[in-house]
Amino acid sequence: MSILNTLPGDFYASVTIFRDEMERIFYKRWVCVGRADQIPNPGDFFIQNIGDESLIITRDRSGAPRAFYNVCRHRGTRLCADKQGRFHETIQCPYHAWTYTLDGRLVGAPNMNEIAGFDKRDYPLYSACLETWQGFLFVNLDPEPEPLSLAFAPLEGKFDRWNVASLRLARRINYDVQANWKLLVENYSECYHCPLVHPALAKLSSHLSGANDLVDGPHLGGYMVINEEHESMTMTGGTRRPPLGEVSGDDLRRVYYYSIFPNTLLSLHPDYVMAHTLWPQSPEHTLITCEWLFDPETMARPDFNPDDAVEFWDMTNRQDWHICEESQIGMRSRVYRPGPLHSVHENLPVAFDHEVLKALGHYS
Ligand code: FES
Ligand code: FE
Repeated sequence: MSILNTLPGDFYASVTIFRDEMERIFYKRWVCVGRADQIPNPGDFFIQNIGDESLIITRDRSGAPRAFYNVCRHRGTRLCADKQGRFHETIQCPYHAWTYTLDGRLVGAPNMNEIAGFDKRDYPLYSACLETWQGFLFVNLDPEPEPLSLAFAPLEGKFDRWNVASLRLARRINYDVQANWKLLVENYSECYHCPLVHPALAKLSSHLSGANDLVDGPHLGGYMVINEEHESMTMTGGTRRPPLGEVSGDDLRRVYYYSIFPNTLLSLHPDYVMAHTLWPQSPEHTLITCEWLFDPETMARPDFNPDDAVEFWDMTNRQDWHICEESQIGMRSRVYRPGPLHSVHENLPVAFDHEVLKALGHYS
């Protein structure tokens, strides 16, 4: 068997490759921007940047979630500077007061009726494709994207047991990491590093346990086993929360970890789900949002407390970000060369790198 290596250093530092990744991956694939319940009512909105693009994610009068470029059709001005909030009926540009409905139609353009040939119908907001999947909102900036159902076909039915669509956000933590986004996905995709980097995690779940069930293609992952005496990934290893949805049998002792190409990491525990989204800022800088989702009935209990899960993964996340930053620094060295990966314990990073190279046009 030939030895598979890490990617060359340029892939973690070159601005040219980074821009290529943004064009061919982040502006072309389905990117998770958040949860549908962040905008429960018409007019609710939040802003999410994808690379250099700013998107307004809102809900129109009919109740449909929508994604619009945060760009006025008059002179291009940012329509919305707030990170989140609620529009009152319409979206108004702060420059010359052009005004749009929540479904993107231009309905106000002061004095422009004096201009021959001007028709408001010609200037709706630029929209982006948006789909809801398992309660997550996915946006695709390609005007003619691959249908989400096709792109996510390998994941079909995989998460039904956890009722992911019905879960609610209990906690969100944002991280600012000085590492390339691919290092973070590669790190998530293997537990070869767990004994040394995550001593607390290693006590709850052996890095040699479990099996992967998605080992090639854009989406990758599988499960690891929670040790006999433990129940979930928490500070104590125990949980007072009941299992989610239809979780039963072997799944009561498993955590499933999936990377959903390109920017989502989904971790399904017996009693909660954790979702990371990665936001590349530059070749060596990534913002990360981590969210903890729980059953709304469990959340309504007076004794509900997500801290045991949040603290455990916040600690583990920081261990990962730190080691990825150390890796990023080392890869800048003049002596760094691609290093050999373990064909079993690091098979998912290999598959992920392959998918990135494929998206960048390195294979036909
Ligand atoms: Fe928006 Fe002029 S730039 S109204
Ligand atoms: Fe880790």
